Amino acid sequence: MSRKFLIAGNWKMNKTASEAVDLIEEIKSSVGDQTSVQVCVCPPFTSLSQSSESVEKSEVLLGAQDMNAAQSGAYTGEISAEMLRDLYVSFVILGHSERRQFFGETNQIVNQKIHAAIGNNLKPIYCIGETLDEREAGKTLDIVRTQVREGLENFPTHSIENLVIAYEPIWAIGTGKTATDEMAQEVHAEIRKVLAEMFGDTSADSIRILYGGSMKPENAAGLLAQKDVDGGLIGGASLTARAFVGIIEAAQSA
Ligand code: 13P
Repeated sequence: MSRKFLIAGNWKMNKTASEAVDLIEEIKSSVGDQTSVQVCVCPPFTSLSQSSESVEKSEVLLGAQDMNAAQSGAYTGEISAEMLRDLYVSFVILGHSERRQFFGETNQIVNQKIHAAIGNNLKPIYCIGETLDEREAGKTLDIVRTQVREGLENFPTHSIENLVIAYEPIWAIGTGKTATDEMAQEVHAEIRKVLAEMFGDTSADSIRILYGGSMKPENAAGLLAQKDVDGGLIGGASLTARAFVGIIEAAQSA
């Protein structure tokens, strides 16, 4: 089963709309037409509309960083799946550790969002990963197994091709500490094993599992060479075209 690499930039709370467009134009000028690696940028909500126009007629895809599980209604400050689809958003990051840590999101809340995303033809990038304490206590594999099982409860097998998982060890996010290639591979293999138990071998083989956490051009090649690492979810290094394109190029030659 060959899985196409996906390199996705999570811009977090960075870039105004005009800065977003500038960055997308720079990314497009280097990798806007290539199709060997799938490329996605995830700007903040306020930049999605202009970013949507900027990625049009290129191979760069658009993602959002979160959404509400409800279809519509009295949820002040929230954004629905339909609103994202209306802006030609393809992917939505769900369950990012910063959402879990600062906004109280649980596997159950994220599960509802994943169902809402799938129901509206958005591709969820479901984020999982352990804290430093959990890793040091030897609980990493248990934690990610539970996150996979609970977050993907009742996920419809017929939509499996739309599912992306991102393994992001929390201790590696924004810290400059990266999981070693072997650490990443070990956890990715375990995630695929759980996916196989839930959805069968063929489905599990088709699901892309991205690595996230201080990924940069210098360490991307080693991580992407791992059998079960199918791309990256990039934070800091996605904020400049130079670094982001460097990672895409590493994926092209992996
Ligand atoms: P950094 O690449 O800045 O460590 O962030 C990773 C991340 O959280 C992507 O979602």
